[in-house]
Amino acid sequence: MTSTSLPESLIATLPGSSYTDPGIFAQEQERIFERMWFCVARSSDLARPGAFRTVDVGRESVLVTRARDTSVRAYLNVCRHRGARICTQSSGEVKRAFQCPYHAWTYDLTGRLVAAPNLTKMPDVSRTEYGLAAVAVREWLGYVWACLAEDPPPFAEVVDEVVTRLGDAEAIEHYDMAALAVGKRIVYDVKANWKLIVENFMECYHCATIHPELTEVLPEFADGYAAQYYVGHGAAFGAGIQGFTVDGSPGLERIPGVSEEQDRRYYAITVKPQVFINLVPDHVIFHRMYPVAVDRTVVECDWLYLPGVVEGGKDISRSVELFDRVNRQDFDACERTQPGMSSRLYAEGGVLVPSEHHIAAFHDWVHERLGTRPPQ
Ligand code: FES
Ligand code: FE
Repeated sequence: MTSTSLPESLIATLPGSSYTDPGIFAQEQERIFERMWFCVARSSDLARPGAFRTVDVGRESVLVTRARDTSVRAYLNVCRHRGARICTQSSGEVKRAFQCPYHAWTYDLTGRLVAAPNLTKMPDVSRTEYGLAAVAVREWLGYVWACLAEDPPPFAEVVDEVVTRLGDAEAIEHYDMAALAVGKRIVYDVKANWKLIVENFMECYHCATIHPELTEVLPEFADGYAAQYYVGHGAAFGAGIQGFTVDGSPGLERIPGVSEEQDRRYYAITVKPQVFINLVPDHVIFHRMYPVAVDRTVVECDWLYLPGVVEGGKDISRSVELFDRVNRQDFDACERTQPGMSSRLYAEGGVLVPSEHHIAAFHDWVHERLGTRPPQ
């Protein structure tokens, strides 16, 4: 069926190849993940100077660390000498410098080349020019965001996505996310294209079918309309629900800044290209996706609570279990969908029903970024 012959209720999705073609994935890496602000770490993962994480951003490995002055720094994880990968671990801590394991070129936490065998005999070698290649980096909401673009887009674009969704510039500040503590982190290895995960997150047509616990807590999700996408709209907890937990039992202390209006409500925000934020009165669930192949995406998910909740060892298991189940239900659906993307039936794609029509704007955005179709 071609898009021109679709009934009015339906809009075409992207074609199957968009989810299976490694060439298209490579273009997305170059034109989306390597050009936009990309969330790479929780700031507290880099609590001390010398703590580091390595993260793949598009086709590059990026080394993120904290310098002695406590600023966060990011570098291409590639030695200036002959290109060896400097850190092969996904996280760790160095005392004061990164040493390349090949010929021992050594870089301090600000990226400067500070030592190398026979370096003193090469006085013409600039310590900064032959230092690590810096990548633009910012901290916001307690997370570290990096951008590989030579001329990064304004970070305000990231902030605007959150503010526009909530309809109020201060609303996100009420949750004081930078001050919250990670109570739980779960990493999901999802055998599905990253766009299937974004599309799934954007609609609630599936909620009644696959999320029995979530629709119990948020009854309006059962009608299939993604009410959460109305600007400033938080989905209300059901009448008998005491907390955002797997069985509706009481949650934890409310985050003090959360307003009366935000209380007993759930807000979901998509921050392109790879972050989802869920806000509830007593915690925040923060997802970031790391697309690793056309058919594989690692999703790292943090449950953030007031520091007293985490330090005091309070029981967070029922609130973690709610969204962990939701995640598994969603990722199972995405994995079930991925093989269909290679089917002859999906050569021209599938269709979006009215409660999913807003996903077409995401598809237009992908086309626009890849230059494959003018924006509509
Ligand atoms: Fe790193 Fe030679 S490649 S020191
Ligand atoms: Fe879902």
